[in-house]
Amino acid sequence: MTSQVSKTVLRLEAEGVQALQDGINFKKNLEDGKCYIIYKDEDKIRACVNQCKHQGGLFIKDIEDLDGSTVRCTKHYWKLNVATMEYVNPPDSFMQDELEAVLSDTDGSLELVELNPPDPWTAEPREAQELHDGEITLTYLTHACMELKAGNKRMMFDPWLTGPAFARGWWLLHEPPSDAMDRLSQADLIYISHMHSDHLSYPTLKHLSKRRPDIPIYVGDTSRPVFWYLEKSGVNLTNINVVPFGVWQNVDEHLRFMILMDGVHPEMDTCLIVEYKGHMILNTVDCTRPNNGRLPHGVDLMMSDFAGGASGFPMTFHGGKYTAEIFKYKSWIQYYYNWAGFKGYNLVIRVIETDDDFKPLKGGYEYLVDFLDLSFPDVRPERDHAYEEIKNRVNVMRHVVLNGGLWDDLYIGFNNRMSRDPDVYHHK
Ligand code: FES
Repeated sequence: MTSQVSKTVLRLEAEGVQALQDGINFKKNLEDGKCYIIYKDEDKIRACVNQCKHQGGLFIKDIEDLDGSTVRCTKHYWKLNVATMEYVNPPDSFMQDELEAVLSDTDGSLELVELNPPDPWTAEPREAQELHDGEITLTYLTHACMELKAGNKRMMFDPWLTGPAFARGWWLLHEPPSDAMDRLSQADLIYISHMHSDHLSYPTLKHLSKRRPDIPIYVGDTSRPVFWYLEKSGVNLTNINVVPFGVWQNVDEHLRFMILMDGVHPEMDTCLIVEYKGHMILNTVDCTRPNNGRLPHGVDLMMSDFAGGASGFPMTFHGGKYTAEIFKYKSWIQYYYNWAGFKGYNLVIRVIETDDDFKPLKGGYEYLVDFLDLSFPDVRPERDHAYEEIKNRVNVMRHVVLNGGLWDDLYIGFNNRMSRDPDVYHHK
């Protein structure tokens, strides 16, 4: 079984994107001759392969359609609404498989991306077998940490059982059961979905590694490695398995699992399908668009996130002295942002170091960073740009810089106050 890969099937440069008309656009990849349909309106771009679900016919503009959102198949006249990706003829029938349309904020280009194969779980299918009472149990421990017992195997997902996450920006809302660490160390395997510290919890793994350094841990083969900080963390884990996407991993004759990527953050986020005796459990974890929106049918149990954030209670910050040598010199600012290597993006940020009440700190730094060319101007540039003002508690800011932590540690949680102009979500 080969691994699932994410592939760009069509790319339009900025001029091509600007030339797209509102409504339906037909495009061809000149290299391989494959045809695509791109639908554009003021708030979205949707795209699909120009191929009918009936028998693979080619769509053309539907001249009877007054809305300008429907195409008609040249073979037997099925009709597809490209604005919704629903077939309107036959009505209530199929959905067209959608491609991910990734519009670049940097150079204005558009890429249509598909996952191949799109539904890898259909490989080597297994018939659902009868289960007896209690043969599978799933227990919520805390946050994203779940314990799955299937047959005589125990799996744990995303164990954050102790300590803070996001540089003390988040703490556990639910106290885990008192025996949670024992259960974790008895697991047959652990799945960790991604690198964020509420899923990859080094304080938890530190406890675990003292008891079972060789416990099998599975992560997906993301381009930003889940265990990016392992060496620096000082945690000793010797059995970390990085597995390809979309390939069944057999645990025993009845139990197998498969890690899938996220369509929006394929470089980082993953989700999981577990199958026991032909019964499927889907854990979408933090994925925005798990497996690019294409998911198995007939799943027996699905787990998903239920909130866009977590509680910051209890907050335990206190004032302190920040005597680290590097912060005496303003040059750390340039050094840090150059080291982080993020640029080529039309964003200007103002960072303000604050006390614990988010009041500018006497002696704290306040500076601008222009990510277009990674310069550090004194005033905001004249050109149009996205602007973000970030107030960070100084101890958190400096802890992250000193330890080379994730930028996510600065903006997730209750350690900062952000304002932005325009007030819209954007990311890179
Ligand atoms: S192939 Fe499209 S309607 Fe038959």
